[in-house]
Amino acid sequence: MKVVLISSCLVQPAEPTWNGPMPLTEFDQTGFLAHVRTMYFYRPSENWLTQKGTIYKTIRTSLSRILVHFYPLAGRLRWLDGARLVLECNGKGVQLIEAEADANLDIFGDFTPSPHFHHLTPPINYKAPIEEIPLVFVQLTTFKCGGIALSYSISDAVVDGQSALHFISEWANLARGDSLGNAPFLDRKFLRAGDLPSAKPCFEHDQFDSPPLLVGQSSCENEREKETTDAIFKLTKIQVEMLKNEANRTRPYNNSDRIFTRYEAIAAHIWRCACRARGHVYEQPTGLAVCVDIRNRVEPPLPRKYFGNATVDVIATGYSGDLVTRPSGYAASRIREAINTVSSEFVHSSLDYLKNLEDFSGLQDIHPMNTNQGPFYGNPNLGVISWMTLPVYGVDFGWGKEIFMIPGTHACDGDSLVLPGHDGDGSTFVALCLQADRMEDFKKFFYEDI
Ligand code: COA
Repeated sequence: MKVVLISSCLVQPAEPTWNGPMPLTEFDQTGFLAHVRTMYFYRPSENWLTQKGTIYKTIRTSLSRILVHFYPLAGRLRWLDGARLVLECNGKGVQLIEAEADANLDIFGDFTPSPHFHHLTPPINYKAPIEEIPLVFVQLTTFKCGGIALSYSISDAVVDGQSALHFISEWANLARGDSLGNAPFLDRKFLRAGDLPSAKPCFEHDQFDSPPLLVGQSSCENEREKETTDAIFKLTKIQVEMLKNEANRTRPYNNSDRIFTRYEAIAAHIWRCACRARGHVYEQPTGLAVCVDIRNRVEPPLPRKYFGNATVDVIATGYSGDLVTRPSGYAASRIREAINTVSSEFVHSSLDYLKNLEDFSGLQDIHPMNTNQGPFYGNPNLGVISWMTLPVYGVDFGWGKEIFMIPGTHACDGDSLVLPGHDGDGSTFVALCLQADRMEDFKKFFYEDI
């Protein structure tokens, strides 16, 4: 498939917006800092197609209008001492690209990951100075059949998944001619952005330690360099129920009165299958990172539409042999235990821990100036992010809801996402990136072991 660039421009807020430096929180400035890509595919009706350029014009105008409300996204990042970052609200704008493909949407079949997807997303040059890199890139690609792909890459240094989805759904509201539903809550002071350290951490915070390495290796460099591949696995409602029942079958591993959730059961299954597919020895230590939304875990809770990164990563740990040979309830219990550590005190202690650090570079992933590239959650580790409760579907810019959505993973070995199936039928998708030579085995175990 050939994709030809038609135009590329910076879209600025439609009205003047506040200018100045906006402090980011420690959660914004650590972890994954690059852009996360999501793609929506549409089949607009005939009336949208008769006048060429109407869709592009609608996207461009509404983008400019929504940036008035979400103006930090039109700004740029700037480095400070100690690999810290500040967000310069300067209205420079977001990148909008218009492109045409010489194929029909059918080329994607059932939308299983395909190398063609790369042509639908603009490449981002992380070697450029950070203050020149837009925080949002949008590419609108038109297909011969009239179908379109809208790819949307947003900086993870500025927002988490919840806020990224808030932005796109409000943007779609304006594009449809509706008014803004909920304004974003832009003040990050609720998570003490820009404040100096006020206390010493009161927890250990081993979530910021280096994750386990493969037994016998002294660095993760070998594993980091291996080729990876993406896959999406569908679980039917019945398969999800079977996994959940199995995790809850063995009581000793869950002594709380709250049974394991679908997420915990699926994440436990992914962990066990990855340990097997990676061929670990019994005593291989492994970590599974869980991204926990803290909006309702802090006291007082964050404003409902808090805009930024309001998540904390915690690490469930275990030995591969134990995870694989014990019932799946064991892996689920390790995950539950890690999630349960996230209290309001833990969140503030994490902030204090980070505020007291001199330099963040060791905690930043895809830091353009850092050759180590931060902590490695590839083999023997994993990250399993839940989008189970996020409003991922139904983004309608006026030409109907998407026919398919491809979620953005960070595209590193071990990264995975769990999200509801597209049809609202109780099915679930697992999107996973894994070393290419492990994927076939993973797939086999994933379905055989249900
Ligand atoms: N009473 C009883 N059960 C309830 C309930 C209530 N009031 N409210 C929710 N539940 C159940 C739901 O049915 C669901 O269970 P099920 O999936 O088995 O049906 C479960 O509780 C959902 O609760 P949740 O707290 O979300 O638990 P989880 O195990 O699914 O997910 C986390 C754990 C840590 C992943 C989740 O709390 C979280 O933080 N999610 C957001 C992550 C995020 O921000 N992702 C984007 C990152 S960029």
